[in-house]
Amino acid sequence: MSDRLQAPRGTFDVLPEQAALRHGVEQSARRILESAGYRRIETPTFEATELFKRTVGESTDIVQKEMYTFEDGGGRSLTLRPEVTAPIVRSYLEHGMHRLAQPVKLWYLSSCFRYERAQAGRYRQFWQVGAEAIGSDDPSVDAELILLLRELLDEMGVRGAALRLSSLGTAASRARYRDLLQAHLRAHEERLAADVRERIELNPLRAFDSDDAGTREVMQSAPRLIDHLDADDREHFAAVRQLLDGEGIAYDLDGTLVRGLDYYTRTVFEFTSDALGAQSGVGGGGRYDGLAQELGGAPTPGIGWATGVERILLAAEERPVPEPVVDLYVALAEPAARARAFRIAAEARRAGVPAQLELAGRSMKGQMKHAARISARYVAIVSQEGIELKDMESGEHEPVASESAVIATVLRGRHVQ
Ligand code: HAM
Repeated sequence: MSDRLQAPRGTFDVLPEQAALRHGVEQSARRILESAGYRRIETPTFEATELFKRTVGESTDIVQKEMYTFEDGGGRSLTLRPEVTAPIVRSYLEHGMHRLAQPVKLWYLSSCFRYERAQAGRYRQFWQVGAEAIGSDDPSVDAELILLLRELLDEMGVRGAALRLSSLGTAASRARYRDLLQAHLRAHEERLAADVRERIELNPLRAFDSDDAGTREVMQSAPRLIDHLDADDREHFAAVRQLLDGEGIAYDLDGTLVRGLDYYTRTVFEFTSDALGAQSGVGGGGRYDGLAQELGGAPTPGIGWATGVERILLAAEERPVPEPVVDLYVALAEPAARARAFRIAAEARRAGVPAQLELAGRSMKGQMKHAARISARYVAIVSQEGIELKDMESGEHEPVASESAVIATVLRGRHVQ
């Protein structure tokens, strides 16, 4: 016998109990986002590799080491999506959504793939719920999206969720700031970690992310982008903050907030939960006013966020898994009653009664035990001579005249309660 195969490292099976919990996240996301006018979208699981290189950024960890990239039979380079924002902006441009009323508000629940070091809360295939609003640079969009994510996390019972907020400014103010930061890093080059030193040219901002003690010290006196925004950026950010303050949404202004994707401009934010340990980011996002242009479209502002379904569930209070409802269990008093039992179960379901049929050849005692285990409300005991219906709550049972009488009684019983 050969070894039994297992799911690939960093992936997991969604077993039925977990599926029920995940369904709860989906339902809350749908209700919260659709009530704000967001409509569901789904893009392909894989895209041209170029899409992520251009938007997420060549120098990011995601593009440098985490993408599942492969060549298809036609020699094209494709990549399993590591995130969904770039695909959605691609779709916006491809379908001429600029002709719709702006902003176009979309939400998704999609799988993502990143070759990361697997650990609790960090997987190689995971699911994101996300929202994107494309076509408006109004600060109200920023504040509203942050509010919607806050509501989703609160509704899911995510423990200790704190909001970090910052602004990265526009590309122009960032370019000026980058020069300042690079000068600071070069001036202290000998105290920096090797990987930070190597990235001074390509991605100096990542120095804020380093765990290295020497680098951290150097970064304490580094210039902060937030102090070098231009007047428009400052005004935009002030307006976002005013709206959040008005709603009583608490946040930490954090000029060191670095997101792992290159497309951000202006507002960026992240929710962390102390229930998550090392992988503390539960959801985050920001503006990407230059992304459509990177993809060859007209300048189009956009903003959005994504939150990991698994991280929400890890950070949420435990909640009971709802049991599936079984109104009727159809038991066989003898094998010859199979056709009749089969018909009763099928008819019951057609009438809207959740019904299950005995499928394992159990003894009568075994069938009654099983019915109790799945919390069936009624059991129909079917033989060639007749049908007996047992109310599992009261323990009472009586003969019933026909198949339809079984269903009528169960329906009546259900409505009485
Ligand atoms: P991100 O911060 O890379 O942003 O991912 C968003 C969320 O996905 C994280 O906060 C986390 O909950 C979850 N996540 C990320 N990586 C993993 C992983 N390996 N395992 C489990 N969960 C993970 C984005 O992806 C942006 N597209 C968000 C965005 C939307 N920005 C603008 N619009």
